[in-house]
Amino acid sequence: MGADLAKGGAYLEEVVAADIIVIGAPMYNFSIPSQLKAWIDRVVVAGKTFRYGANGAKACCRKTRRFSSLPPRKRLRASSPAAALEHHESYLTGVLSFIGLTDVRIVRAEGLAFGAEAKEAAMSRARENIAAMAA
Ligand SMILES: Cc1cc2nc3c(=O)[nH]c(=O)nc-3n(C[C@H](O)[C@H](O)[C@H](O)COP(=O)(O)O)c2cc1C
Repeated sequence: MGADLAKGGAYLEEVVAADIIVIGAPMYNFSIPSQLKAWIDRVVVAGKTFRYGANGAKACCRKTRRFSSLPPRKRLRASSPAAALEHHESYLTGVLSFIGLTDVRIVRAEGLAFGAEAKEAAMSRARENIAAMAA
């Protein structure tokens, strides 16, 4: 138990110390992979990255910290009828804002399974967005 808590604590300290956090997160069944969820469960911790007060939960991380997420998707596009099932970006943005990481920037690579041309166009758009973000 002690070793497990120490490991979890290290992930938490890493997040608190970071200026920028970059996550590459594929979409799995409309949401994030379970491994990423396990990491979130290590870093969204009451009394550490948020605390409950008289007015409900309050974030503890500095608000200026930037978090970038690069979610590749094979099929789900923002314009798809299944877009209502999107629990990837909405969840990540919500849970990170909950602990104070409000500067969340998303780079999408979507529609990658719609042929070589669509894939290259999506990847090239994503690369441009990353370059613009880094500038
Ligand atoms: C279990 C599983 C579930 C997936 N679910 C979705 C999904 O809901 N929507 C989607 O667009 N892509 C889905 N994908 C495709 C992944 O997003 C894709 O595998 C990921 O972007 C990595 O790309 P690669 O397989 O070419 O390496 C899924 C893939 C797996 C393995």
